[in-house]
Amino acid sequence: MPKRESTRFEAFNLPHSLLLGSATASVQIEGGDITNNWYRFCEQGKVKDGTHCIVADDHWNRYEEDIELMKQLNHKVYRMSIEWSRIEPERGKYLEEPLIHYRAEIQKLLDNNIQPLVTLHHFSQPIWFEDMGGWTNPQSVACFTCFAEKVVSYLGDLVAEWITINEPNVYLESTYSSAIFPPEKPSIIHYFKGLRNMTASHIEAYKRIHDIREKMGFDTGTKVGVALHIRVFDVQKVSFLSKLSQQLLEHSFHILFLEGMINGKFMFPIGFGGYPYGKGIYCDFFGVNYYSRDIVAFSWNPLRLFAELQVNKGSEINDMGWEIYPEGLYRICRKYWDIYAKPIYITENGICDATDEQRAAFIYDHLKVISRLVEEGVPVERYYHWSLMDNFEWDEGLQRRFGLIEVNYETQERTIRRSGQFYGELARECKVTDAMIEKFLPMS
Ligand code: FCB
Repeated sequence: MPKRESTRFEAFNLPHSLLLGSATASVQIEGGDITNNWYRFCEQGKVKDGTHCIVADDHWNRYEEDIELMKQLNHKVYRMSIEWSRIEPERGKYLEEPLIHYRAEIQKLLDNNIQPLVTLHHFSQPIWFEDMGGWTNPQSVACFTCFAEKVVSYLGDLVAEWITINEPNVYLESTYSSAIFPPEKPSIIHYFKGLRNMTASHIEAYKRIHDIREKMGFDTGTKVGVALHIRVFDVQKVSFLSKLSQQLLEHSFHILFLEGMINGKFMFPIGFGGYPYGKGIYCDFFGVNYYSRDIVAFSWNPLRLFAELQVNKGSEINDMGWEIYPEGLYRICRKYWDIYAKPIYITENGICDATDEQRAAFIYDHLKVISRLVEEGVPVERYYHWSLMDNFEWDEGLQRRFGLIEVNYETQERTIRRSGQFYGELARECKVTDAMIEKFLPMS
């Protein structure tokens, strides 16, 4: 092979304290459940590309094969979610069978030395819950806490690490602001009602998970957190209005969630700065889902939180049109480590890239940033790539490709992508070598 003349890539070591793996979510991969709100949404023909979540990756029936693939990719950790609607298809009626299934799946992970991180709510929920007003109904707190108790009582001896809610900020934005998620009811009042109830639910679940595990005899090791979608909001032209809009967005998309879910502080408009559930630390790690940044301009639309979001002109984008901006991960981790001093888990980071031309470089760039952060003393302990395999990308459907593994939905055949092989090798070696650069990374 001819020697390369120049490349922007160089060999580097990954921190040994960093555990690598990938993330998925129930409805996006499992298939077979007709009691969740996304099933109904698909039935109503609402998915953009006309596809359906009813089969998805058929992971429910193929989890053993998929764990084999994780092993091939040298996963040390894996983030998955439990489907609430399977456990409680009717309000108050809990089923044991799906819990037995999840137990077997988790046991299989453990048998393969893959440590699970389990999410209790990842965008999907029972239809009955959605129909009672979902998270805007104050009863949602009791409903979710009850469900969390059931699951943790059943699986808590196998699972030490939990995420209560995935991206409550994206969930609320997509449900009540841009209203692209079911039940598509735009209302800024609902956004804040939901925010209050999700914060309360997180705190209650945090307390219960610790209590339950303690009663089981696990005095240490329990870690509970939330996976927040953190974005970089920059302005192009500094003006009073653009700054105002940037600050309003920071407040309603980041700060309200962070202060509420980490410290128990309910800031305006979900409270007046008090601690209705007690002042505390309600996150044992800082879970960051990081994808991209936005350029913020002022908008008069309160429903869009007074912001119009644009893509930074001239930057590289992925298939979704999102800017690829690895430096944003650095800025976020640095900033929130300085404020909250919690160990950081990158609970999601990935790229929609059907041709797989950008993914290996994306992984390289983001892991390089993490190495730099760890060298500077910022404890980034986990990296869960989104996603293990192609899956059902919510309102966008099955055609959006985020996987380290390509899935043929006709045959359910899985094929590890080149970028997946790269990720597997670097997870095994704990470093990026010149040979890997030669093999996997494009000249630039
Ligand atoms: C995140 C979601 C995840 C997936 C990725 C692409 O916002 O948590 O389920 O859809 O985006």
